[in-house]
Amino acid sequence: MNKKNIEVISASGTYTVTVGFGIFKTEMERIFKDEIPDALYLITDENVHKLHGQLITSVLEPLAGEIHRMEVPEGESSKSIKFWEKVTSFLLQNGIRRNTPVIVIGGGVTGDVGGFAAASVLRGVPLYHVPTTLLAMVDSSIGGKTGINHEMGKNLVGAFYQPKDVIADIEFLKTLPANEWVNGLSEVLKYGAISDESIFSDAEIFLEDKPYDFDHQKLTELISKCITVKAEIIKKDEFEGSVRGYLNFGHTFAHALELACGYEKISHGEAVFLGMLAAITLTNLTGSSLDRNPLKKFSTLYRYRVSKEELSLDELLQNMASDKKRTDQFIRFVLLNSWQHPVLKTVKDSALIRKAWNTVFDEL
Ligand code: GLY
Repeated sequence: MNKKNIEVISASGTYTVTVGFGIFKTEMERIFKDEIPDALYLITDENVHKLHGQLITSVLEPLAGEIHRMEVPEGESSKSIKFWEKVTSFLLQNGIRRNTPVIVIGGGVTGDVGGFAAASVLRGVPLYHVPTTLLAMVDSSIGGKTGINHEMGKNLVGAFYQPKDVIADIEFLKTLPANEWVNGLSEVLKYGAISDESIFSDAEIFLEDKPYDFDHQKLTELISKCITVKAEIIKKDEFEGSVRGYLNFGHTFAHALELACGYEKISHGEAVFLGMLAAITLTNLTGSSLDRNPLKKFSTLYRYRVSKEELSLDELLQNMASDKKRTDQFIRFVLLNSWQHPVLKTVKDSALIRKAWNTVFDEL
């Protein structure tokens, strides 16, 4: 079986991310081989349950005395304080104890809210991530960010809480809708831009005629490369004091755009792709001359549902300025000194930022 193991080193210990096709059963058996837990808590995305519930149950049933299962409805509204409370009640009312494993199976939303529930109940119970989307495999399940939204903004309540293991079984991707592939692709390309040039050429599989009928080996390789980049960054800066910020390449523009679109008319991945193009423009406006083609050639894969007429530049700038997680008076961007050489830069000249937004409008 073709599978890859990547180690993630964190303050709370080292864990392994395993990537491969059809590995869910064997990896779960490996994790629980020494001691069958008397109970397991399963927090699963509702669509994943519909599509893969039987497989999941048949794998887990022999591995635990009892299984308690809860589904997470699709969409950002599940990352609410109310829903997090529901997850914690599910865990507590079913008698969770400090050492009882919680397995979270799904995409970014399920991973974030399920992970935060595992982080907060009894001050932390053992967490296992089984990401089922490309985005969750390459990004959100790795590195310990868990959290929920608050009325003051996205992801404002949460914790760094590392899982014990991450199992990225690409067989789950067989049922991934086309828009979700593109959503994850942006994060894949981000790793190409900030660290590993070969990711750009590997990602060309997305440009092929039958893009979602992937060669398992190539896909395993590509996902593993992305996780390796992220793991290297986490090792240096787990709590985002410095280089972890590089993972936000394109995201300053993206978050402003998502907010302007009410998180509905644009996906995170679409916004990040546009944000990365804008960041390259800003890079070039501040003294570099990067060829944008390594990224731009993927733009044929993106179909936006928002038009430039629906957006206001002033509102986008206002959104950037009011980002609650900023530490600086001015806006700090991740730019590139050259491809694969990111740098955090404060841009004080708002005329340049305005110009960079034109790149986004030109794409829509
Ligand atoms: N998604 C960015 C990070 O994990 O830091």
